[in-house]
Amino acid sequence: MLFRLIFLCIAAVEARGLDSVNYGAFTQTATYSIANQLGFFTAYGLDVLYQQIPNSTYAYAQILNGGYDILTGTIDNAVNLRLNSNENVTVIGQLDQGPDLVLASNPNITSVAQLKGKSLIVDSPVSGYSYLLRKILSTHGLLLNTDYFFQTVGGTNLRYADLVAGKLPNGTAVYATILVYPFTAEGEALAAAQRPNILARISDVVDPISSSAFTARQSALSNCTENDVLVRFMSAMYTANLYLRNPTKKTCSLRAIGKQLNVTTTVAQLEYNAATGADTGEVSPGGTFTVSQTGLLNVIAVREEFNGFSSLPSDYNFTAAIVPGEGKLIDYSIRDLAVAGLKKHLLKRTC
Ligand SMILES: *[C@@H]1O[C@H](CO)[C@@H](O)[C@H](O)[C@H]1NC(C)=O
Ligand SMILES: *[C@@H]1O[C@H](CO)[C@@H](O)[C@H](O)[C@H]1NC(C)=O
Ligand SMILES: *[C@@H]1O[C@H](CO)[C@@H](O)[C@H](O)[C@H]1NC(C)=O
Ligand SMILES: *[C@@H]1O[C@H](CO)[C@@H](O)[C@H](O)[C@H]1NC(C)=O
Ligand SMILES: *[C@@H]1O[C@H](CO)[C@@H](O)[C@H](O)[C@H]1NC(C)=O
Ligand SMILES: *[C@@H]1O[C@H](CO)[C@@H](O)[C@H](O)[C@H]1NC(C)=O
Ligand SMILES: *[C@@H]1O[C@H](CO)[C@@H](O)[C@H](O)[C@H]1NC(C)=O
Repeated sequence: MLFRLIFLCIAAVEARGLDSVNYGAFTQTATYSIANQLGFFTAYGLDVLYQQIPNSTYAYAQILNGGYDILTGTIDNAVNLRLNSNENVTVIGQLDQGPDLVLASNPNITSVAQLKGKSLIVDSPVSGYSYLLRKILSTHGLLLNTDYFFQTVGGTNLRYADLVAGKLPNGTAVYATILVYPFTAEGEALAAAQRPNILARISDVVDPISSSAFTARQSALSNCTENDVLVRFMSAMYTANLYLRNPTKKTCSLRAIGKQLNVTTTVAQLEYNAATGADTGEVSPGGTFTVSQTGLLNVIAVREEFNGFSSLPSDYNFTAAIVPGEGKLIDYSIRDLAVAGLKKHLLKRTC
C-alpha cells in the first residue's frame, strides 16, 4: 500500500512536468507503438493521450473544434474537407502508404463477385476508403447502389469487430469491409470459422497510395517554435519511424508492437512486416513524412472518378492544390522543425 502511494506520488509529479497532447487515431500504428512503448513521448516532455476515433465525421470535427490537437487519418478526408468545404484542416505529413489495406470478407464469401446484392460496412460513404472500395468493385463490374450497398458503421476497429462477429450489434449480417494495419494480420491469426478472407489488396488497383496523414487545424500551425507540443509530438513520431525502419532494431520494434497491440509474437511479426513494407508500409518519400505526390494524386483520381469533387470546376488544378505552403492543404513547417529537433540518442534505445 505504502509503495503504491509512493509510486502514485512520483507518477503525479512526473505527469505535472509533461505537456499533454490529445492524439486522435483510428489505429495504433507501429510508429506510435514504438514512440509510446520506448518512452519517446516522455523524452520530449509529452503525455500523449491516445483518443480512439469512433468515426471520421466525429474525428475531423474534433480537430476543427480543438477537441483533438492532432490526428492520424486517411489523407482523403483532409482533401475532401479542404477542397470541397473550405475547412481549414492542414496535413503536417504522411505517415504511411496503406499498410495491409485490403478488402476483407466474411469467411463464407470467397470472391468479389459474391458481393453482388450484398452490403459492405464503411466508416462514411464519402470517405476515401469508400472510394477505394468502389474502385475495386468496379474493376469486377459491380456498381454502388445497383449491385451492392454501403452501411455506415464507423472506424476500422469497430468494423473489424463486426466482421469477425459476422453481424452488426443490431443483428444485421456483415459480408465485407476494408481493413488496414493492425487488423488484417490479427484476422489472419483467427480460427478458420472466423478468419476473414482477403479478397483483394488495395495496392493491386492503386499504387502508390498516400494513406494515413498527420493532420491538425490550420490555426495550430501559426508561429510555431521548436518547443511547441505539436513539434515535439512530431519529433517523437519521427524518431520512432526512423527506429522502426532500422533493421538492427527489429527485436525491440517487434516487442513494442506486440506489447502495444497485445498480440502474439507470430502476429507481431506479421504486423512488423506490414509496417516496414517498402512500398505500402509506414513510409514516406525521403523518410521525413513527406507526402507522396503521386500517391496523393492517385487518391484524388479515385475520388474524382466517382464524382467526389462535384462542386469543383471541371478544369480545377489538383496539382496546384497540393503544393505545400503556409495556409495550404499541406504545410511542412511543423515537420521541418520536428526533423531538426531529432534527439539522436533515442535511436540507440534498447528494450
Ligand atoms: C460518430 O461518433 C460519434 C461519437 O461517438 C457518435 O455520436 C456518432 O453517432 C457517430 N456517427 C456515426 C455516423 O456513426
Ligand atoms: C478558413 O480560413 C479562411 C482564411 O482564414 C477563412 O476565410 C475561411 O472562412 C475559413 N473556413 C472556414 C470553413 O471557416
Ligand atoms: C442495423 O444497423 C445498420 C448500421 O447502423 C443500419 O444501416 C441498419 O439499417 C440497421 N438494421 C436494422 C434492422 O435496424
Ligand atoms: C457461414 O455460412 C454458414 C452456413 O450457412 C453459417 O452457419 C455461418 O454462420 C456463416 N458464417 C458467417 C461468419 O456468417
Ligand atoms: C503570429 O505572429 C504574428 C506576428 O508576430 C501576430 O500578428 C499573430 O497574431 C500571431 N498569430 C498567432 C496565432 O499567434
Ligand atoms: C491481452 O490478451 C490476452 C489474450 O487474448 C488477454 O487475456 C488479456 O486480458 C489481454 N490484456 C490486455 C491488457 O488487454
Ligand atoms: C497546375 O498547377 C501546376 C502547379 O502549380 C502547374 O505547374 C501547372 O502548369 C498547372 N496546370 C494547368 C493546366 O494550369
